[in-house]
Amino acid sequence: MLPHMNAPEERTLILLKPDAVARGLVGQLIARFEGKGLRIEEMQMRTLDAATADEHYAEHVDKSWYPSLRDFICSGPLVALMLAGDQAIDVVRGMIGATDGRQAAPGTIRGDFSLSNQANLVHASDSAASAARELKLFFPN
Ligand code: CDP
Ligand code: MG
Repeated sequence: MLPHMNAPEERTLILLKPDAVARGLVGQLIARFEGKGLRIEEMQMRTLDAATADEHYAEHVDKSWYPSLRDFICSGPLVALMLAGDQAIDVVRGMIGATDGRQAAPGTIRGDFSLSNQANLVHASDSAASAARELKLFFPN
């Protein structure tokens, strides 16, 4: 039996943030995920309104830096993706690297392309519970 036939599938929400779209990195970033073997199940370009940003970042809305993050995440179009694959949630978190692009390891997306702790190109769900909640917000069907 092929290995993938036993693999437990997971789904995770990825956002290619407005800085990724503005810098023309969407194709390169999607290529990394596809190259890894993750499957795109849904994909949508949209510009978030403040209410949707607040819902998506519910855990952060009370932080001192949240207003700045909200301005950034709503500043232009982003690309939302549902990616699927074996251990997709942790695999993608590994691929994007540490939150602060200045500290993210080379070879990760943030390590290779970001020099910022805010404009760090990619959001990815950090747990099964977050993935379920976030995917429902972006892809309610
Ligand atoms: O995105 P990740 O899960 O790695 O980090 P987080 O701690 O959940 O923070 C969410 C997002 O808030 C980050 O990806 C940054 O874009 C932003 N952020 C910020 O603007 N200022 C900070 N001091 C920390 C995070
Ligand atoms: Mg997070």
